[in-house]
Amino acid sequence: MTTTPTEAAVLPTNRILRGDCAEVMRSLPEASVDLIFADPPYNLQLRRDLHRPEGSRVDAVNDAWDSFSSFAAYDAFTRDWLAAARRLLKPDGALWVIGSYHNIFRVGTALQDAGFWILNDVIWRKSNPMPNFRGMRLTNAHETMIWAARDEGARPTFNYDALKALNEGLQMRSDWLLPICSGHERLKDAKGAKAHPTQKPMALLHRVLIGATHPGDVVLDPFFGTGTTGAVAKMLGRRWIGIEREESYIAAAEARLAKVRPLDRSTLEVSAGKRAQPRVPFGQLVERGLLRPGELLVNPRGQAAKVRVDGTLVAEGITGSIHQVGAALEKAPSCNGWTYWSFLREGQSVPIDVLRQQIRAELA
Ligand SMILES: C[S@@+](CC[C@H](N)C(=O)[O-])C[C@H]1O[C@@H](n2cnc3c(N)ncnc32)[C@H](O)[C@@H]1O
Repeated sequence: MTTTPTEAAVLPTNRILRGDCAEVMRSLPEASVDLIFADPPYNLQLRRDLHRPEGSRVDAVNDAWDSFSSFAAYDAFTRDWLAAARRLLKPDGALWVIGSYHNIFRVGTALQDAGFWILNDVIWRKSNPMPNFRGMRLTNAHETMIWAARDEGARPTFNYDALKALNEGLQMRSDWLLPICSGHERLKDAKGAKAHPTQKPMALLHRVLIGATHPGDVVLDPFFGTGTTGAVAKMLGRRWIGIEREESYIAAAEARLAKVRPLDRSTLEVSAGKRAQPRVPFGQLVERGLLRPGELLVNPRGQAAKVRVDGTLVAEGITGSIHQVGAALEKAPSCNGWTYWSFLREGQSVPIDVLRQQIRAELA
């Protein structure tokens, strides 16, 4: 499952690539990845060990991979991996990057400078944060994720209705209340200690991947750690690529991923909503002979409008689209012509939307 960059001439999905992420990303084919989820080093700048009030040592992030000699060194590292990540993204691909107050502002500046276009920032509010043991500052109870498109004007995947469904029918907000990774989900080493100091909860990745990818998409995580992104991607039927430098984390991630079973395909379909339905112009009803030029449509007041050959209507000296003529007759700023106008068949008045549904059913 592990491979080195030189073996990676084609896109090596469902594998962990060992090495420096910027270097490995540069070896992969350009514009080949749908989504990058990055959880880079925080650059916590811990000068000494942290202790709880009763004296025990706090298991904080003081590993070599999180140490940089200066902010300038951290910025150079950030700009390097961001440029490599942007090159890998498809034109409508997106980046999600998570961080804390230590690094996220620097990462945000760097990604805008690199050409990414920020779409949202999401606050992950931790329902069970670690307390501030010394009582010197506020409890640090959240992390920030930035969601950015590769370019301004790009249209990355956004499964609006699926996220709304996850939130019991309410539009998904940009503040997510979720617990930190604990219990059976937390990977342990042979001595029972945490296998990784910053393992992310699967629930966080579940929401990101449901909202921003489709089954079969390629999801890459350049700071793979224990492989949380890969585990959720595999479960949800997405292809995944992990990049990680440390052998022990790669071993933990490989063991974890081997145990993940992909969900049945039938459970992976998500709510699509009206926006996902194909657009049908009214003129197509005329072209297809479902309505004849010269035929009359009626509105709820019984006023008639004549259908013209180009799919416009004329009524009481007003011409325009089904929406414009409806709005003018109602003296309203707008009107949904599809539900406003009906046609007559065998003495019955039938909404024109029925004909649109008929065409959509054929397209499906
Ligand atoms: C914040 S942790 C990611 C944790 C991961 N999201 C998880 O759930 O386990 C960052 C990871 O990036 C790795 N790392 C740091 N610098 C790297 C680099 N230049 N290339 C590849 N991996 C790197 C570290 O070894 C560490 O495992």
